[in-house]
Amino acid sequence: MTETKAEIRLPTQELRADLPFYMKQLGFRLDMIYPADDPQIAVLSGHGLRLRIEKGAAEAPGTIRILTDDAGFAGGARSLTAPNGTRIEVDELNPPVVTPATEHAFVVRRLADQAPWVIGRAGMEYRDLIPTRLGGAMIASHIRVPDGPVPDMVHYHKVGFQLIFCVAGWVDVLYEDQGDVRRIHAGDCFIQPPTIRHKVLHSEGVQVVEIGVPAEHVTEIDHEMKLPTPHFRPEREWDGQRFVHNIGRDGTFAPFRIPGFEARDTTIHEATKGVVTLGRPRTRGAFLMVFPPRRETHDQALVQAPMGLRAFRAGDRSLPRRHPAPARAFHGAPTLPPELHAPGPAAGNQQATKNGDHCWPPFAPFPVPPYPCSMASRQIA
Ligand SMILES: [Fe+2]
Repeated sequence: MTETKAEIRLPTQELRADLPFYMKQLGFRLDMIYPADDPQIAVLSGHGLRLRIEKGAAEAPGTIRILTDDAGFAGGARSLTAPNGTRIEVDELNPPVVTPATEHAFVVRRLADQAPWVIGRAGMEYRDLIPTRLGGAMIASHIRVPDGPVPDMVHYHKVGFQLIFCVAGWVDVLYEDQGDVRRIHAGDCFIQPPTIRHKVLHSEGVQVVEIGVPAEHVTEIDHEMKLPTPHFRPEREWDGQRFVHNIGRDGTFAPFRIPGFEARDTTIHEATKGVVTLGRPRTRGAFLMVFPPRRETHDQALVQAPMGLRAFRAGDRSLPRRHPAPARAFHGAPTLPPELHAPGPAAGNQQATKNGDHCWPPFAPFPVPPYPCSMASRQIA
């Protein structure tokens, strides 16, 4: 059996001054020192790190970041400088997820705008649907995945809320404590509760819209967990949220509160205990989300449609009469997209293409005049 160790070399001028600092203040232990009569090199380990402090080494002293849940670590200091010049930063091991205040905006992103597809994690391609990120409160991405096996690892996201709505194709995914492989098809959605472990396995022609709160969040790999897990626990909660796999074809459409629409409940309101309400209006595969990040602000709604994703604020009654021009983003006065003014064709009329950009028939003019609309209610369907 072989063994390998890695260590980082740091310089010093006077080892005698460094040892008490690293050992007493930072909690490292001394593993090796030599020569005994006039020490030139010391190896210390601690907190998952192995250091080789060497007299006269040519490297820069660098920075060590120590992440801890001990508020009293190093006497509560957040920044220290070691005698050898190495900077020490002390930070929280599990900082709370902070969602910035939402900067409401009406944003239109259309495929015709040709926003770049960026290769992201695990080879997936991302198109940014809200470049402003609404002040950091939310990210929305149109994601497509190359067909075949996905080189993914068991991972999780430190988020407040995360939704995946499948627009086209299918993808197989494993989720912690949610049984065996799940396949999401066009019209289905997942709620991934904060930190639930999961792994993407295989896909074909898949395109999803993913919405995450806040916009910037950390993805961590879990090297220990094996999926599927032996337990099936659909009622389990993560930060008060349950996993949701809502299957579009099983949904029952009921009258929507915007006249002329029908919608189905995706159960997300109940599963997130009101963090988010997601309805699926029966209009060309669009969905509509009401997201109250803070109770004292207006609700914020997102409408995902085949050609992009629109975000608008609740409670505004000014409605455009015409579709926004291509390649423009609207900020400020929120408005209701005209495709919500009248019902579209029934669900199931999608024209999914493999790499596809246009999964539903293009919009046609609606004969019905626009309806005044208030999105102030948190219940959609
Ligand atoms: Fe993920």
